[in-house]
Amino acid sequence: MLRDSFGRVATDLRVSLTDKCNLRCTYCMPPEGLDWLPNAKLLTADEIVRLVTIGVERLGITEVRYTGGEPLLRRELPEIVARTAALRPRPQISLTTNGIGLARLAAPLAQTGLDRVNVSLDTLDPGTFKRLAHRDRHDDVIAGLAAAHDAGLRPVKVNAVLMRGVNDHEAVPLLRFCLEQGYELRFIEQMPLDAQHGWSRDGMVTADEILGLLSDAFDLTPDDLEERGSAPAERFLVDGGPARVGVIGSVTRPFCGACDRVRLTADGQVRNCLFAREESDLKTAMRAGASDDELTERWIAAVAGKRAGHGIDDPSFLQPSRPMSAIGG
Ligand code: GTP
Ligand code: 5AD
Ligand code: SF4
Repeated sequence: MLRDSFGRVATDLRVSLTDKCNLRCTYCMPPEGLDWLPNAKLLTADEIVRLVTIGVERLGITEVRYTGGEPLLRRELPEIVARTAALRPRPQISLTTNGIGLARLAAPLAQTGLDRVNVSLDTLDPGTFKRLAHRDRHDDVIAGLAAAHDAGLRPVKVNAVLMRGVNDHEAVPLLRFCLEQGYELRFIEQMPLDAQHGWSRDGMVTADEILGLLSDAFDLTPDDLEERGSAPAERFLVDGGPARVGVIGSVTRPFCGACDRVRLTADGQVRNCLFAREESDLKTAMRAGASDDELTERWIAAVAGKRAGHGIDDPSFLQPSRPMSAIGG
């Protein structure tokens, strides 16, 4: 079991398959992109499956999320999903993606064992999309979402980050769109994890502001029918339900106390938190011939050292040296 010194148990493994991305969202990375990890440093599909297997069979992982960068860029994704679905006990398998390529891949991924998908969509306007993501790919994302829904992946969740003066006038239209299509929308507070270190508290559209914007058009009531558990999203029934909207208030409404996550980066480092200062290098150990027992011990030790919370409000807060795209969202 992966237990930390505060008694939290990690059961949700988030695996970054690549740090590369085909978008350049302004809250994530600069238009020119980043220095991507060289291929030799990336875990191979076999190495990923070996570590996921250790997580599931020995360490109590029950949910595996593949993320990036953009995980659909990893050619072996269908194979990795299929091999994950063959593990026992079979974990829940989900994907967090920008949706580009999902139009082609949703059905095959669903067939090989993917259970559900979260897709980023910050705007309904192709022009705003192009300004925000520096690529003209809005149609691909919309088509990807529809394909995910058609392939029976449920729920289809949509992630939206609002930015002041850019897309914060779209909170209500985004929710209308998702309600019509049957997607579950969540608004996310922007976190200080961008490669450019441009985050500011004033620039962040807060959970309170988001709820204020939505309340102009919808009647929102806290969803206390379902246990929140470790979920980052606070959920609200829209106009009495059953449709819901979520708000992920990572900064102003932190949920670290209930955290059940552990992360594996594309270059094989265990991170016990998005904001962790230390990592544990399973890749080097694995490539030097470490046994499954040794890797298990290292992983347990890495989680044991997890801090209480992200510490964004501490005066001594330091943004992690890796940006979000290299950690896995
Ligand atoms: P599900 O609701 O189970 O699908 O998971 P999720 O909402 O965590 O998944 P997703 O990958 O879509 O992440 C949505 C947002 O939550 C992103 O901005 C993530 O970075 C953020 N998030 C995910 N995990 C954590 C975490 O451990 N800590 C914090 N602060 N934010 C997180
Ligand atoms: N703060 C909050 N959310 C972010 N995402 C990417 N960068 C940030 C950030 N700095 C979101 C993406 C995606 C999810 C994995 O995280 O929009 O939906
Ligand atoms: Fe790519 Fe996601 Fe970063 Fe946007 S937020 S640039 S989609 S990794």
